[in-house]
Amino acid sequence: MQTLHELATRLKQARRILVLTGAGISAESGIATFRDAQTGLWSRFRPEDLATPAAFQRDPALVWRWYAWRREQIAQAQPNAAHIALAELARRTSLTLVTQNVDDLHQRAGSTGVIALHGAIARTVCSVTGREISPVWLAANPGEPPRSPHHDRGLARPGVVWFGEELPAEALTAAQAAARGCDVVLAIGTSALVYPAAGLPALAQQHGAWFAEINPQPTPLTSAADLAIVQTAGYAMPAVLDAWENR
Ligand code: APR
Repeated sequence: MQTLHELATRLKQARRILVLTGAGISAESGIATFRDAQTGLWSRFRPEDLATPAAFQRDPALVWRWYAWRREQIAQAQPNAAHIALAELARRTSLTLVTQNVDDLHQRAGSTGVIALHGAIARTVCSVTGREISPVWLAANPGEPPRSPHHDRGLARPGVVWFGEELPAEALTAAQAAARGCDVVLAIGTSALVYPAAGLPALAQQHGAWFAEINPQPTPLTSAADLAIVQTAGYAMPAVLDAWENR
């Protein structure tokens, strides 16, 4: 409990806060993480079969169906107490929310201006041009996947960032600027193995920020954290908000 109070105090004193979230924040909404043993997607599926440009080229239907299955799960899930507490916190302070998640649970919990480093599973884009393909067009053009309306060699593909692909430049630049400019950085529910996202807390620290992590498991960042809260996000975040309110 002491650590939760310490985090609340630090957040309250901060002028600018950066929060970096990963799949762990959506775990309590019933969405599988990637790397947790047993339950993580990458313990059941191989990323090289499903989440690379080469995989899509080899078997676009397999990749398309896998994302359709995940999109369906996400559509049925609800934001949990951690998403909601973060959105509440952002109403009380200057907070930039950067997520690696492709679900939209932060937005559905009320967070605005979310920087989505790895894209959005609800979006569909052209595999050649990257241009957006609208849900209306998709509804009228079934196929697994349909051909792209934007390029004669293109296919419709999920609007997410795959292994080996560049992150959206604008999002990455905004996230890095927020890291350089914050005085508290908080990482929630990320294994911190995938760069450049995992480098944001260290970048913030290099610029003088105080760093806290919320994760039930240790990560490569834990030893560098000023405070490690070894709890789930769904427990810790509402408790931090409560401590913020009652201090
Ligand atoms: N609360 C907080 N953290 C949790 C919870 C929870 N309830 N449950 C699990 N975690 C933690 C795990 O301990 C783990 O450290 O969440 C982390 C999830 O790690 P990953 O599955 O690796 O997810 P993430 O860090 O978001 O992955 C980064 O990898 O495959 C890619 O593009 C994908 O964006 C993803 C990126």
